[in-house]
Amino acid sequence: MSYRRKDGYWRQAKKEGYRSRASYKLMQLNSTFRLLKKGDAVLDIGCAPGGWMQAAREIVGDPGYVLGIDLQKIAPFEEENVEALQADITRSDILTIIRERKEMFDVVISDISPNISGIWDVDHFRSVELSEKALDLAVELLRNRGNFLVKVFQGEATRDFFEKVKAHFSYAKISSPKASRKSSAEVYVIGKHFSR
Ligand SMILES: C[S@@+](CC[C@H](N)C(=O)[O-])C[C@H]1O[C@@H](n2cnc3c(N)ncnc32)[C@H](O)[C@@H]1O
Repeated sequence: MSYRRKDGYWRQAKKEGYRSRASYKLMQLNSTFRLLKKGDAVLDIGCAPGGWMQAAREIVGDPGYVLGIDLQKIAPFEEENVEALQADITRSDILTIIRERKEMFDVVISDISPNISGIWDVDHFRSVELSEKALDLAVELLRNRGNFLVKVFQGEATRDFFEKVKAHFSYAKISSPKASRKSSAEVYVIGKHFSR
């Protein structure tokens, strides 16, 4: 990892035992938007190496449940109510696979990112495609009044994607947490109080 990537949050994560600096983004977003609470069942889409899962587990506590899903295999957690599935969210039977673990969730969060090509437009559209898939899953799996959080790389399709999210929730917002790097063009789309 280059020196530039080892910033303050990276060092803090190392010191405090988080698997990634991304943990702080979820903590910051949650303290602003109150998306997760004690006892919630949380689905984390694109979860490796598990920094968000750790932060989510701290919030939902013993009575909650955290299920992560990623292409990558991740190191298991000690806690019984935190598990990860290794799978591609674009596979056709993904809902069945998730529902074998849990039928419905209070919150769906997703920090999913495509492999970066370096070509901005390509990365933006791939990111939107994955975030739309995360939204499709949230629409199937969220309980009524559930919450949704998803990352998207900014670009010309961000507004349209935001409108799609907005259609399913009574409150929607685009936000960029402090722990996102200044140079980063990622934003987080928040949807609160899902209704079907
Ligand atoms: C930025 S990382 C997530 C970091 C995580 N939030 C954390 O705190 O540790 C994005 C993840 O999205 C995953 N991903 C990308 N495409 C995917 C797909 N089609 N299915 C499942 N996971 C995918 C990548 O493997 C990668 O681990």
